[in-house]
Amino acid sequence: MKLIFATGNLHKLKEVRSMLPRGVQVIGMREMGFEEELPETQMTIEGNSLQKAEYLARELSCTCFAEDTGLEIESLNGEPGVYSARYAGENATFEDNVNKVLQEMAEAENRKARFKTVITYYSEGKYVQFEGITEGEITKEKQGEEGFGYDPIFKPLGSAKTYAQMALAEKNIYSHRKKSFERFANYLTKSTV
Ligand code: IMP
Repeated sequence: MKLIFATGNLHKLKEVRSMLPRGVQVIGMREMGFEEELPETQMTIEGNSLQKAEYLARELSCTCFAEDTGLEIESLNGEPGVYSARYAGENATFEDNVNKVLQEMAEAENRKARFKTVITYYSEGKYVQFEGITEGEITKEKQGEEGFGYDPIFKPLGSAKTYAQMALAEKNIYSHRKKSFERFANYLTKSTV
């Protein structure tokens, strides 16, 4: 089975390829020759996930899936949330965003945070969504070099390491993305038998 993933993020593509069951081949939208950026103008993670999947499905006349992820920090009232990719501004790098979170939280005692991923599978005008949440905390400093985004400052509950101190297989034990993909994989397995 071939599935088109509505993302231009190579980190996500690599992670997702390590998660789906054997027999499922994931093709990134760039490999399909789609060079545009996808719209992400909704106010929720669910909304953005659907918007991306629907847009690509229409543009390429295909079945596809998208995912949207946000980091929700309790002491910042759920921010950066839906703005996770551009927390420090429109063209912010991962590092800019991480630095902004550390700055905003310089005095914060409550460091509780969670990652939330919502996958949307869009096929023939219909869609299904799958959620994955991982609770954890924001560290006081960056730790580790692996991964991407906020990985160097997010320590999942039950771990002494940040995501960025973990190899991919270890991140997958805790990962918000992996949890949502397990649900998606189950759905695919059931709907193709
Ligand atoms: P997107 O809008 O779903 O592409 O993701 C929003 C932002 O969340 C990304 O630009 C990253 O900064 C961050 N992000 C998404 N997934 C992860 C992750 O697994 N680890 C760390 N940061 C992530």
